[in-house]
Amino acid sequence: MRLVSPALSGTDDHALLAEYFDPACRADPYPVLARIREASPLVLHGGDLVVVARYDHCRQMLRDPSTSNDPRNTRIGADIPPRQESLLFLDPPVHTRVRRLVSKAFTPRVVAALEPRIVELVGALFDRIGDAEEFDVVRDFAVPLPMQIICELLGIPLEEYRDFENVAHLFGRVLDFHHIMPNPEIGEAEAARGTLIAYLRELIQRHRSRPDGSLLSHLVAVEEQGDTLSEVELLATCALLMGAGFDTTVNLVSSTLGSLISDPAAYRRLRDRPDLVPSAVEEGLRHESPVQFALRSVMQPTTLGGLDVTPGTAVLVLFAAANRDPEHFPEPDRFVVDRAPSDHVALSAGIHYCLGAALGRVEAAVAVREFVRRVQDPVLVPGATAFRENVNLRGRDTMPVRHRGILPA
Ligand code: HEM
Repeated sequence: MRLVSPALSGTDDHALLAEYFDPACRADPYPVLARIREASPLVLHGGDLVVVARYDHCRQMLRDPSTSNDPRNTRIGADIPPRQESLLFLDPPVHTRVRRLVSKAFTPRVVAALEPRIVELVGALFDRIGDAEEFDVVRDFAVPLPMQIICELLGIPLEEYRDFENVAHLFGRVLDFHHIMPNPEIGEAEAARGTLIAYLRELIQRHRSRPDGSLLSHLVAVEEQGDTLSEVELLATCALLMGAGFDTTVNLVSSTLGSLISDPAAYRRLRDRPDLVPSAVEEGLRHESPVQFALRSVMQPTTLGGLDVTPGTAVLVLFAAANRDPEHFPEPDRFVVDRAPSDHVALSAGIHYCLGAALGRVEAAVAVREFVRRVQDPVLVPGATAFRENVNLRGRDTMPVRHRGILPA
């Protein structure tokens, strides 16, 4: 058994992880992630926290049925106050029950039926951009699409959601796991969560008295028929869908387009070969994982990368590093349009595999396909792209482009 990774002392492991969490790293975290991967598994806080970053170790953790997703089962998370939990932090059997109810809204059939509406919404976004010579790929294109889709799905009036755009970004910082790398600035995340829950409580009341056939009305009805969604579960599920269904897709669309625009040959290739769009979207997921990591709680003694890990240990699983592991993906830092990586872990693995995967994929595919087809020779405005502070839901805040024209629909 070894208690620290061979390359670094515990203190160095902490410094390395702190470097990754540093805001200066947001624009390009991949060099530090490569160093973390080389040195992994990292051991911090005297063995209370282990960081895995190699592809095989990450897969092993994600697929291990003996782990828990509740951070309060770890020694470092023991002080986290109990709060309304979402699917992400639930374990079986409660997780199984809630997931079964919610997954009815995300079957391939339901999602396929949404595609024409997604095409229509993308068309309307280009109408709004008009003939502007410069526009912002994030704010004018990537943000409004998933926001509108999630509103229509849940039955939230769009003008009410707009007030929540900022709340949703702040709320996403809950997933930066403050107890792993303390950051006073993310205290706002819990306040944002409170604002969101208060709004949703009122919205649920409205759907109770006036059902409209939306997912929210359906989930409310399930609760009312004496089935298994309690109000706490209902609120947590809606908050998760608003958060998980929004920022992740915004970041996937903007990072995939960012990679393509930075490589004009790849951009033109995709324009000429739209059949490669699904492959480009998978490569976008692998290359800049919109969810960079997840946390697991070890419940039984286990061995991870040669390290003996005891129950109560928190394990940080770095999807973003695993997806660039050169042992698994040749030339991992290159964005290769036709790589079609079917085995990346950007959508997780095991029982928490992303419930909205099909929806996220179809939104991104339509957005990328239409963008590449219509926007002629775009170039990034030099020095104008900026990233959000979120570590886990990492993504661009703004990405202005200039172009040589936008073709009609
Ligand atoms: C398109 C980009 C997306 C990415 C990269 C992504 C990524 C992820 C990841 C990594 C997880 C699992 C975290 C873990 O293992 O602990 C997850 C779970 C989840 N995602 Fe997504 N997601 C995306 C889109 C969506 C969309 C569009 C929705 C819904 C509207 C959604 C809803 C969910 C839900 C409900 C869960 C919880 C599943 C569970 O815990 O059983 N996601 N997502």
